Amino acid sequence: MNAPTVLVTGATGTVGSALIPALRARGATVRAMIRDPEREIAGVENVVADLQDPASVTAALNGVDAAFLNSPSAPDAAALQIQFADLAREAGVHRLVLLSQYAARTDSPVRFLRWHAEVEAHVRELGLDHTVLRPNLYLQALLGFAGTIAQGWFAAPIGDAAISAIDTRDIAESAAAVLTTAGHTGRTYTLTGPRAVTHAQIADALSTATGRTITFRDAPADQFTAALTGILPPWQLDGLVEDYAHYARGEAADVNTSVADLTGHPARDITDFARDYAAAFIPA
Ligand SMILES: NC(=O)c1ccc[n+]([C@@H]2O[C@H](COP(=O)([O-])OP(=O)(O)OC[C@H]3O[C@@H](n4cnc5c(N)ncnc54)[C@H](OP(=O)(O)O)[C@@H]3O)[C@@H](O)[C@H]2O)c1
Repeated sequence: MNAPTVLVTGATGTVGSALIPALRARGATVRAMIRDPEREIAGVENVVADLQDPASVTAALNGVDAAFLNSPSAPDAAALQIQFADLAREAGVHRLVLLSQYAARTDSPVRFLRWHAEVEAHVRELGLDHTVLRPNLYLQALLGFAGTIAQGWFAAPIGDAAISAIDTRDIAESAAAVLTTAGHTGRTYTLTGPRAVTHAQIADALSTATGRTITFRDAPADQFTAALTGILPPWQLDGLVEDYAHYARGEAADVNTSVADLTGHPARDITDFARDYAAAFIPA
């Protein structure tokens, strides 16, 4: 596809915000789909639309060659993504790149993985040029623990299980490659970091990068749940506990070369992430 016009959903989100410059670097024309007109993204066309509003999505899709589909995990995420994919086909979009998750499976005990698998199955049947990206846990999810990390610790119910967590900048650069080059039709890419790391190793990397002592504390699932009750809605908290149980069983530790194959550079390591984001983990 020569210099395509790409609609980026979730443009204000973790992956979407890194995808926009990555697409521009590859010469693509970007249309950023945003919900709030006050959060316009500089340097690209912006379109205000909401996945809950099909007419706005149809208008956003008008005239684009390719679309990147990403939405937050939510009980209605699968229905909204399926609706978006149908609208993309009706709008004549040539290529759809779907952000799913590592180990998405219809029979997974993790609800988020079942929801992603449902969307994947629908997209495969649509007859569109499509590609599925299945990233592992985002390293940038550690920013959610920045409050306690700044105090020298963080806790999660994962024990000493290793996980091949990935930097979202690598997901974005992989997505940009898939959206702008040929040879990805019908493919599913599992995207991982360059090695599987334990949370104790993550703590060591953060300690080195910040020059402070940061320790990881394993937390029983019920303690983790109690700490987040009232902060997260029940569906999200239950889903997060399912996610961590899956990680703790060692089911998210495989490493592959998809990021390097797609982008031409090795996936960023936890030490790279820790160095680049050190300031976020230091008390203000
Ligand atoms: N976090 C991880 O470790 C991880 C790992 C693998 C896969 N994933 C998958 O990544 C996806 C994104 O999750 P995330 O938490 O990182 O979110 P995110 O992409 O950082 O943020 C969600 C984006 O979706 C937009 N959005 C929310 N509701 C919308 C709606 N109704 N219509 C249009 N846009 C809407 C948000 O816009 P506003 O800014 O306006 O709210 C934001 O841009 C999920 O499917 C998740 O399963 C996450």
